[in-house]
Amino acid sequence: MGNSQIYLPSPSQKSDISLEEAIARRRSVRDFALESISQSQLSQILWATQGISDTGEKLRTVPSAGPTYPLEIFVVCGGNGIEAIEGGIYHYNIDSHSLTRHYAGDVRPALAKAALGEESIYQAPLDIVICAVYERTVTRYDARGERYIHMEVGHAGQNIYLQATALGLATVAIGAFSDEQVREVLRLDKQYKPLYIMPVGRPASILSR
Ligand SMILES: Cc1cc2nc3c(=O)[nH]c(=O)nc-3n(C[C@H](O)[C@H](O)[C@H](O)COP(=O)(O)O)c2cc1C
Repeated sequence: MGNSQIYLPSPSQKSDISLEEAIARRRSVRDFALESISQSQLSQILWATQGISDTGEKLRTVPSAGPTYPLEIFVVCGGNGIEAIEGGIYHYNIDSHSLTRHYAGDVRPALAKAALGEESIYQAPLDIVICAVYERTVTRYDARGERYIHMEVGHAGQNIYLQATALGLATVAIGAFSDEQVREVLRLDKQYKPLYIMPVGRPASILSR
């Protein structure tokens, strides 16, 4: 892990659109504009993915069986992907709502290659990679814990979809990739299993309208 820690701006709980509009407008988008994301937009997306919503009990925006919190979130970005953040791989520190650099350099092309060449992964300014540490939940719930983890990643993914939509951004949930290759590209320990890659950016089609 690198040393540089980036504290993100506090997330907002106000939006220009209603929850119902976000649900109605949510769509998978695979074509992104070459436009960077602000740190406050990233803050909002990460908070929706796994941030703390109850600081007293440290409960999160996404439900979790137990709660055993098996999910770990990584951000992969290009050089100009996120305002004032260098290209690289970052780990989301949930308690401090900050990022720690895990690797310097743009790995989006390699990540796309690990996902059957999915272009949106290197076209989007950033990719959120949701991983799980199975032990945390399986130790408590045995084999049924696996089912719970897969349910939980769906909750997190849907929150990314809805938060992105509310910000005028978009995403697509990508499940088709080689676990082993993604783990290699992200320099992840064996205990981290990647479950979703979600490119996030401004939809290209809105700009061309
Ligand atoms: C579990 C899961 C895995 C998915 N994997 C991929 C994928 O690997 N590549 C992709 O382009 N879309 C993927 N999708 C997105 C679906 O293709 C998309 O949700 C579907 O076409 C319906 O479109 P909508 O999301 O705009 O309603 C996945 C969706 C889910 C729920």
